Formats: sequence, C-alpha cells, structure tokens
Amino acid sequence: MDDKSKELNNKIEQAKMGGGLDRIEKQHQKGKLTARERVELLLDKGSFYEVGMLVSHRCNDFGMEDQKFLGDGVVTGYGTIDGRLVYVFSQDFTVFGGSLSETHAEKICKIMDMAVTNGAPVIGLNDSGGARIQEGVNSLGGYADIFYRNVMASGVVPQISAIMGPCAGGAVYSPAITDFIIMVKNTSYMFVTGPNVVKTVTNEDVTAEELGGASAHSSKSGVNQLDALNDVDCIEKIRKLLSYLPQNNREKPAAFPYEFKNESRPKLDSIIPESSNQPYDMKEIIGELGDPGTFFEIQKDFAENIVIGFVRVAGRSLGVIANQPFALAGVLDVNSSKKAARFVRFCDSFNIPLLVLVDVPGFLPGTDQEWNGIISNGAKLLYAFSEATVPSVTVITRKAYGGAYDVMNSKHIGADFNYAWPSAEIAVMGAKGASEIIFRKEIASADNPEEKLKEKEAEYAEKFAHPYRASSRGFIDEVIPPSETRKRLISAFDSLENKTKVIPVKKHGNIPL
Ligand code: HXC
Repeated sequence: MDDKSKELNNKIEQAKMGGGLDRIEKQHQKGKLTARERVELLLDKGSFYEVGMLVSHRCNDFGMEDQKFLGDGVVTGYGTIDGRLVYVFSQDFTVFGGSLSETHAEKICKIMDMAVTNGAPVIGLNDSGGARIQEGVNSLGGYADIFYRNVMASGVVPQISAIMGPCAGGAVYSPAITDFIIMVKNTSYMFVTGPNVVKTVTNEDVTAEELGGASAHSSKSGVNQLDALNDVDCIEKIRKLLSYLPQNNREKPAAFPYEFKNESRPKLDSIIPESSNQPYDMKEIIGELGDPGTFFEIQKDFAENIVIGFVRVAGRSLGVIANQPFALAGVLDVNSSKKAARFVRFCDSFNIPLLVLVDVPGFLPGTDQEWNGIISNGAKLLYAFSEATVPSVTVITRKAYGGAYDVMNSKHIGADFNYAWPSAEIAVMGAKGASEIIFRKEIASADNPEEKLKEKEAEYAEKFAHPYRASSRGFIDEVIPPSETRKRLISAFDSLENKTKVIPVKKHGNIPL
C-alpha cells in the first residue's frame, strides 16, 4: 500500500474509533450501542455510504484546538432500508458527549438538504449532551439551522427521531418538529430543563427518568410516539414504521403483495355487545379488518380512548383512527383530539388513506376539559379531517353522538364512504339524556316518573338509536353487515385509488393550534 493510501486508511480508522476505546466501552456498559453500530443495524447490510467522515470542528477556545475527532461527534450519510433510500445521522456520544458544534450541525443540515432534494426520509439517532458548551452561540446557531430545516422538510419527506440517550434543552425541538419520536426505555430522556433546574425553580424532586424518560413521554405528555426496550428494538421499530410510509409527499406508500382469499370476517358479527353501554376492544375489530398481523399502533399508552396506527388492508397501507370503547367509553377529550389530529395531518401529508372507526358517545364534559381547551383541541381534529384530501372511509360500529358524529370524519366534512353497522346509533345524544331534556315536564308530572322516563327512552331509541335515519338522508352510504366490512373497504379504497381533491388556494390555513 502506498503512503497516500495508508494516510487515508489511518484517517478512516481514526474516524471509526470516535472518542476512543475507553469511551466506547463506557457506552456499551450503559447498554447502548455506538453511533456506528446503530447505523449498521438500521440500514441494509453494506448499504451505508458516509458523508463527512473527516470533518472536524473549528473551535480554538478552551484548548479545543488540541482535541479534534474526525467526524466531530456525528456519523452522517445515506443507505437503504428494505432497498429504499434513507438519509441518516447518528450522534456519537463518545465524542464530547455527542454535543452539537457548528460543524456537527452543518453535517446534519447537509444530509437533511440531500434528503429533501432527493425525496427520501431522514432518520436522526439522537444521543447528545446538547449544545457544545465550548462553542457558545455557534452551537445555538447550528441548532436553529437544523430546526429551520425540520420545518421546511415537514410534509415533504418523513422525518423520524430516535432518542437513544440524553436530549435536553432546546435540542428537544428538532425531534418535536419531526413526524415520529421513538424513545429507548431507561437509557434516554428528553426535557427542556433537567431535574436540578426543576428542583431550584419548583422545589420538586424528580429523577431524569421520571421527568423525561420514555414512559413519561409515552403516557403523560404524549411527546413520544413509540417506545423501545433497547437500541436493537428501537431500530427494528424504525424499519417497521418506514414500511408503511412513502418516500416523500409525491409518492404513495408502497403496496405489499396480497393474494385475495375469502375476505368475509364472520367474527366481526359478534364483537358488539348486546348492551350499548358495555365496552369492547376496538383493536380486535382493527385486527380483523386488517391483513393479519399488520396493525402497527402509534402512541398506544397516551389518550387510550382513541387508537391510531398503520394497518394494511389487501396490501395497501392505511392510517387508522378509531375510538376505543375500552377506555373512557371512547369519548373524545383534549388529548385524544390532539393525538388523532396530528396523525391525520401526517397521513394526509404523505398520501396515506384514512380508515376511521367510530364508536363515540361525545366529548368529555367537565371543568378540566373546558379549561384545558376542549373547544380548540376538538377543533383540531375537525379541522384535520376537513382539510384532508386523501381517500377516507368511515365505519360507525356503534355510537356516533352529537358533535363527535360530525368530527369523526362524517360525510359532511369530506369522507368518501361512510358505512354503518346495524348496531350503529346516530343521534344528538343517548336516549336517556335526550329523554330527560325533551320530556322533562312530562316525566316530572307522571304518576311514576321512572317508568315514564323508561318509556320515553324507548321511544327516542326507536326513532334514533339506529343508522336508518342517517342512511335515509345519504349521510351513511350503506348499512353493512360487520362480517362484510373488509370486502367493502378493499373495494372502496380500490375505487378511490386515483382520487383527486383540491382545496382552495391559500398560503396556509390557520388550524387552531
Ligand atoms: C461539551 C460535553 C457536553 C456538552 C457532555 N460533554 N456534554 N462536552 N458540551 N454539552 C462531554 C463531557 O465533558 C465528557 O467528556 C463527555 O462528554 C461525556 O460526558 P459525561 O458527563 O462524562 O457523561 P454522563 O455522565 O453520561 O453525563 C451525560 C450528560 C452530562 C448528562 C449529558 O454530560 C451533562 O450534563 N452535560 C452537559 C449538558 C448541558 O448542560 N448541555 C448544554 C445544554 S444547553 P470527556 O472528555 O470526559 O469524555 C443546550 C441548549 C440547546 O443544549 C439550545 C438549542 C436551541
């Protein structure tokens, strides 16, 4: 080997060592993989091409001129996942704790620009102590350059952030703008201010894990969409998630090969309980409607009264939004509205058709909900469905009451097909509540008010607790046997394959954020 080749090889070897063996060892002791190991695992074998391996920082303060590591704490480049192009950056905690310098930021920005230009997803593997303290405002500028690109790329290419170590301070805002966050349990956290500052300002004692670990953000804040048991699980989940998505906003998601069989699902005929107040698991219905084993749930521990996720029906990728009678009777509240609205926006941005399953008794009453803005948050979901132009099909399995009937992708706000099961009840409210209001005087003056209420309830239920009024108006296209729903969905989405719908030209709307 000639000297020049040797020099290059030495540099490559040096870059691959990151912050050195000791720090790599420490990373492994924490149960974490290194930046490069993560990239290797994420991408198809041998597909990774690095960009910017020999970059080093330009800081000359605090003795930094003597501490240079090739790559400057982030591995960036491109490769493939299941044969499809993706761009990736992976922060290297072994180099200055993965902290973000000006050049580190430039590397990330470079691959983000490439991803947008070439129409491929960007995956960020975050593991960083935040702004490179020695660089001051240069580092802050670098963050802002990334945030700006996150916003510009939003709705153009899918952006996925894995949090695989610390992510604190303003650094959290890049993942927050991306489409999906996936956090590794016990080894990652996200917060704007850490436990020490919290203690000083609010006198609360809280650990980093309690404050901003995966479980806090999965179940309390809703910031996190997917959790992972460890780095390997995290990477597997990213690969799986991508299989449901298109490469960019000009494409549709790839259809998976599917062989048609008997598409009748008799089990669906017996899922809805006799009593309309009894709960059942909407996920069982999703499981029956989808191709076996293809339901991939998102944000499963947050606002469990609405279920969102991806599912394939005859190989086609769909976004599913479904009220969950098992949790709070499937009511819409602040958190479920926000959760579902953001998901609808994502699917619509990326041409993923929507399947909406409805069993909703209405909006959750109470001061907590009103004071936390159920008005503007519920409006988010209404807005998101109304503005969506992707094919969408709604199936009312049981209750569709009040404003929630309108909001849950009714015909009136743009659904393409609205189906109801014979068990559907479509009305302003439940029979009991309605009778108590409109027959109040009659009930109060009756010899036996209780019996009168029951009688009126039955009268109201007979008039409204079914899907036939709505179907006589055309608000429901068809009342269908549950077992035939999957067949209908396949045909409906086939017929909508080339749907085009254009909304009025505007700079952008003003969704009630
Ligand atoms: C420079 C850093 C660094 C940073 C860590 N290191 N964070 N170097 N800038 N921000 C270095 C350490 O000096 C150490 O170097 C190595 O990385 C590993 O750090 P340790 O502290 O040994 O690791 P650990 O015990 O695991 O603790 C990790 C940590 C802690 C919790 C992240 O390092 C920490 O608190 N760092 C500071 C975090 C911080 O305040 N960041 C700035 C936030 S402000 P050696 O040479 O010993 O290996 C911010 C604003 C962003 O981020 C605003 C955007 C708009």
